[in-house]
Amino acid sequence: MTDRIGPAAHLLVTGGAGFIGSELVRQVLARRDGTRITVLDKLTYAGNRANLAAVEDDPEQAARFAFVRGDIADPVVVDPLVAAADAVLNVAAETHVDRSILDPEAFLRTSVIGVHVLLEAIRRETERARAGGRPAAPRLLQVSTDEVYGDIPSGHSVETDPLAPRSPYAAAKASSELLVRAYHVTYGLDAVITRGSNTYGPHQHPEKLIPLFTTNALAGEPLPMYGDGMQIRDWLHVADHAAGIDFVLRHGAPGEAYNVAGGHLLPNREVIEMLLAAAGRDWSLVRTVPDRPGHDRRYAMDGSRLAALGWRPARTFDEGLAETVAWYRDHPDWVASARSGDWDSYYQRQYGARLAAGRAVDEAP
Ligand code: NAD
Ligand code: DAU
Repeated sequence: MTDRIGPAAHLLVTGGAGFIGSELVRQVLARRDGTRITVLDKLTYAGNRANLAAVEDDPEQAARFAFVRGDIADPVVVDPLVAAADAVLNVAAETHVDRSILDPEAFLRTSVIGVHVLLEAIRRETERARAGGRPAAPRLLQVSTDEVYGDIPSGHSVETDPLAPRSPYAAAKASSELLVRAYHVTYGLDAVITRGSNTYGPHQHPEKLIPLFTTNALAGEPLPMYGDGMQIRDWLHVADHAAGIDFVLRHGAPGEAYNVAGGHLLPNREVIEMLLAAAGRDWSLVRTVPDRPGHDRRYAMDGSRLAALGWRPARTFDEGLAETVAWYRDHPDWVASARSGDWDSYYQRQYGARLAAGRAVDEAP
């Protein structure tokens, strides 16, 4: 199979200081195949330069790496970076559903205005390539999510299903996809989309279920389980998610979307049970608290389009979860830094009243 991106390409990775973006950067540069990467990241509360320390501390990798702090919605920063890139991987987004319910605006700024700025820059470079001003147009890989399909009570979503987002976060992500598709159809941009499922692993901000419950369990603090805890998610290890994105970048057909499914569908209660066992804690810490508004009950994707192209995830959830819990136990400084800034006020706003209304959960699932 031919690679659409050569081994010594220059990649622009937006959001590369976040959870999935930094894994992608570490993974690609560790191949030592000459690939160069520039990260553009705004360093919001979710971005952390320390996630890139493995790259910046390695002289051979550091020589192929550059970091720019900036916003994808700022054309002054974006335009020259896109002009210098062979491919743009847009991993940047505001990513937490609960925060999108509290304050949607930042989600729209990044996933609508920011994506539009990227698309305009890629459109100009595509025209420049057509005019002979550069060897090839830059390829865009837009990182999306299974949440764009909405709640899936039964069966599995396939890539041709309609988008039916139900939270401000998911609506913002679906908007990005629609813009990317429109620019592919109208201006002929070479663009591909990945739709990943719920991702877990080291370096994930502790606002999300697995790192929040792990760090709270390790500290002996209550675990706020929304509603009955029987919501279903499909868990994908971050190393697999990054590998899937890299594979689609190299082998995806222009204009197509690809589900990156984890293949580990579990109700939240089962995830909590496994996590408590790995952390050496029990159900006495779990509280059932008032549910997330509009909470999607189930996500499930069919990964056969990507499997037919030659890629499937490699990690098992049991091993991945145990390693993840151990990583959080072994990195208290990283956790403390992620829980600085606006963390206490966010936690109070999101969980204060919920925990006050919460009840103990006696039974394991
Ligand atoms: P994250 O919140 O850990 O990281 C997001 C990164 O983007 C941060 O480094 C942040 O500083 C940066 N960023 C935010 N707004 C920016 C802007 N305007 N300009 C430049 N940088 C900006 O997120 P994540 O969990 O790593 O998710 C990465 C991508 O993967 C997102 O697009 C998300 O929608 C998608 N995704 C995530 C999951 C998951 O379970 N985490 C699953 C499927 C898809
Ligand atoms: O499905 C992919 C998506 O997964 C990504 O696109 C998002 O960026 C990512 O945040 C994630 O969204 P979810 O809303 O599914 O993940 P979260 O970790 O917030 O919640 C997972 C499940 O756990 C969900 O059913 C809500 C529940 N939950 C979550 C939190 C934070 C709780 O019960 N209590 C909590 O405190």
